[in-house]
Amino acid sequence: MPVTQAPLSYDPFAADTVADPYPWYRRLQDEAPLFRQEALRFWVLSRYDDVLAGARAHGSLSSAEGVIYIRQPLPMMLTMDPPDHTRLRRIVARDFTPSAVSAWRSLVEGLAVDAVDRMLQERTTDAVQAVASPLPILVIARILGVPPDDYPQFRDWSDKIVESLAVIDPADVERANRTVEGILALQRYMATLVEERRRTPNGDLLSRLVQPRDEGALDDSEVFWFSLLLLVAGNETTTNLLGNLLHTLASTPALWDELRMRPDLVPAAIEESLRHDSPIQGFFRTVVAPYPVQGVEVPAGDRVLLLFGAANRDPRHYDDPERFRVERHPADHLGFGSGIHLCLGAQLARLEAAAVLRELVQRVRRLEPAGDPVRGTNPILRGMAKLPLTLTPA
Ligand code: HEM
Repeated sequence: MPVTQAPLSYDPFAADTVADPYPWYRRLQDEAPLFRQEALRFWVLSRYDDVLAGARAHGSLSSAEGVIYIRQPLPMMLTMDPPDHTRLRRIVARDFTPSAVSAWRSLVEGLAVDAVDRMLQERTTDAVQAVASPLPILVIARILGVPPDDYPQFRDWSDKIVESLAVIDPADVERANRTVEGILALQRYMATLVEERRRTPNGDLLSRLVQPRDEGALDDSEVFWFSLLLLVAGNETTTNLLGNLLHTLASTPALWDELRMRPDLVPAAIEESLRHDSPIQGFFRTVVAPYPVQGVEVPAGDRVLLLFGAANRDPRHYDDPERFRVERHPADHLGFGSGIHLCLGAQLARLEAAAVLRELVQRVRRLEPAGDPVRGTNPILRGMAKLPLTLTPA
């Protein structure tokens, strides 16, 4: 008797889907490569080729109404289309080229050494609290030029703002209020800092952002929104890359041994982690010109979810995609997106993850789970909320 499967009822926000979305992705790819989520009223693309094409189709699939479920158009380049996006990206691009980012190497490596020192002192530690969560925000704060005394405040605002990425219920007023609170507080704070840097530039990123350049100039409001974007786009994502990667390594001792013997594989392990367990599972677009895909013309006004996390596990594109294979080196994964919005901070994220992982593989002989890890519950940003590990020094 043929086995009939229940019709797909994929809901990216359901708790059990968030806990393990991967079986759903396989079913979407096989049974409904263009899936209609009727209740929540959006379309879903999950195959590698479709997600890649969708990410590059900025003329038809717009980011200007926001990239999360709630339509949240904010004046940041992540949520802009050309020509506004082009202008802003051109101005800031030069601060994020590989050579610009390499100027932050010693800062990042120093922070990674400090974190691993503390982890080794404790021996058993929650890797999220010890390194994955504090490191990215410290890096952004230091790069921007936020004074150290203000870091805890800075972090609190950032957390409040990022929370909104999980919102699907427009009636969740409390959460929305916390986001607005965070944004307003950060805006007041940054206004003073920007004024100081205009008067006395000191070479930090904020000083550079407020200086006019050949490519154009940012006004105060643009400097603020860009700083906010760095927080929103760069912190929890990098935290999740580190958490997901360390989770995989701690539960696969052979992999740890391989990296200890071959530290030159550290960059490959990072790319494979971005593919295998992507920190951003998917972002939305709004259709602005009828978009043909999978034999259907998706009409203007509709929304489409591009599942980067599914594309990165598409067996049509990657052989044995469920397996974490360090030698795979997937240069074409969609963990950083693709097209005009390709992650601006990709080099910085790689630098941070590599600094931590190199330090750990040099100094830690065994990395083992020390209790049950806890996954985060954010449907868009996939990562670990808690990752208790025991470290045995080399
Ligand atoms: C592992 C960590 C990270 C991941 C997985 C990640 C992922 C992504 C993805 C998928 C996009 C494309 C969004 C879209 O197509 O709508 C993006 C855009 C962006 N990311 Fe990242 N990101 C990471 C770290 C960072 C860091 C550290 C920064 C900066 C400090 C950053 C800054 C940005 C910015 C500014 C954009 C918007 C670019 C644009 O609209 O042109 N990201 N990121």
